[in-house]
Amino acid sequence: MIRRLYICSLSGLASVIVASLLIAGCSSQVDVASNDDFYDSALNVLLTERITLNGQRRLQNFVLPESDDFSSIPQDPRNPLTADKVTLGRFLFHDAALSQAARHTHNLGTYSCATCHHAAAGFEAGAARSIGEGGIGWGTRGEARRPDPSLPGADVDSPGLKSQTILNKTYQRLMMYSGAAGTGGDNEGLDDRWIHHPDAAANHLGYQGMESQAIGALSKHRLFEPEAASQLIRSHPTYAALWESVWAGDSVTTERIGLSIAAYERTVMANRSPFQQWLKGDLDAMSREEKRGAMVFFGDKSECTVCHTGPALSSMAFYALGMPDMPGVPPDPGRGGLTGEDRDRFTYKVPQLYNLTDAGFMGHGSSFRTMREIVDYYVEGVPAISLPPDRFPDQFRRLDLTEQEIEDLIVFLETALRDPDLERYQPTSVPSGACIPANDPLARHQLAC
Ligand code: HEC
Ligand code: HEC
Repeated sequence: MIRRLYICSLSGLASVIVASLLIAGCSSQVDVASNDDFYDSALNVLLTERITLNGQRRLQNFVLPESDDFSSIPQDPRNPLTADKVTLGRFLFHDAALSQAARHTHNLGTYSCATCHHAAAGFEAGAARSIGEGGIGWGTRGEARRPDPSLPGADVDSPGLKSQTILNKTYQRLMMYSGAAGTGGDNEGLDDRWIHHPDAAANHLGYQGMESQAIGALSKHRLFEPEAASQLIRSHPTYAALWESVWAGDSVTTERIGLSIAAYERTVMANRSPFQQWLKGDLDAMSREEKRGAMVFFGDKSECTVCHTGPALSSMAFYALGMPDMPGVPPDPGRGGLTGEDRDRFTYKVPQLYNLTDAGFMGHGSSFRTMREIVDYYVEGVPAISLPPDRFPDQFRRLDLTEQEIEDLIVFLETALRDPDLERYQPTSVPSGACIPANDPLARHQLAC
């Protein structure tokens, strides 16, 4: 059975949608398979209202493109996406053989970007606190990784912020909770501040956030050593052929390795999640609860979309929500660490919202373990960290949601925004043969490599 879904141009609230549908001028229409659910129409109208891009209001503005549809994926014009560059980057991101700048020789070749960002944990670490060099062990998705007790604590690479996902990040111009990595956008005119922030270390090269971050992370996380990286590329035919195709004749530099990795990261998107399938016309992809939850998320009572919007449900804004810091580490000043401005202290970049329960650590301090906990935090609207009251956004206040609306919202966030197959972005093996996502002896044992 085919039912017509009307794409309408309306103003107003979800509560008047049904009535409006009958009377308002609907500008265009598409044919869709029917599941006889009025929520589809109501949600459609709500979404059409919520997003204005280039002056147009269209459902399309929430859609994540296919990962090989390179012309539709936002990218840095100085680092155009190609299939071979993405493949090269995918290997390098996951290959522990690249970790050749370790402080201790016994840690050489034991970790990679993927140790802290891997598919099974929604491209987060799978632990409250990520560990690169100096971590041992794995468990099933990173939860059993521990600092090596034989090393001085300072030599263990374990940042004091949650390892954010790389998923859908191609929709943000600047990277890191502080937004320090990358040029242009909100970082315009901040050039003289770059020396104050370690994550701005590669900004002088002039790339956008994804590229700047990848280049910077190769040094920050003790991965790139020029001689060893050249040797790695030369000694494996797969790498040698890909390098020749992508960087014909050019030497192996941290910049080119970073650009390759960034190209891969830009293709890692939750484009097979139920909400995405629904947006593309499969109205049965979401359950009735999920659709009701979407109505809450995109509705006026929650105001979630004031901040979480666009294809990744993120934005390039920074806010203080007073979420708890990681215990035992000095609080990270967030955006204020880059700008030096008081009003930016403890504000953090608005993150994307897909596949967050895969790792099960939310907030910049990994303090929330379940979607219920973080949604309750929003509903109560009471900051856990004290700051002058005018630093908090107006939307952060007690929300007037019923228990049913809260439950539906949680279901939408947990399941409609979960791509069930992120493993497709992880190679089954890497040219060096190292174990994915960690390659220290205990991890190898636990991962049965
Ligand atoms: C020791 C663990 C660790 C390693 C290794 C690591 N990262 Fe991260 N990564 C983190 C943490 C923690 C954050 C969050 C810090 C922040 O946002 O300020 C992060 C943030 C990011 C972000 C920013 C996401 C955003 O929304 O701004 C990207 C992209 C990223 N990492 C990519 C990489 C790449 C590429 C590599 C390898 C070259 C890498 N990471 C290696 C821990 C790690
Ligand atoms: C005023 C802007 C704003 C509004 C409104 C807002 N958020 Fe957020 N959201 C943020 C920021 C900023 C963060 C990161 C805060 C931090 O980690 O300290 C965040 C973090 C999150 C996270 C955790 C993501 C992660 O990777 O740890 C979830 C889940 C979330 N928001 C869901 C929601 C929901 C649901 C609503 C509506 C009830 C909502 N947000 C409303 C700005 C906002």
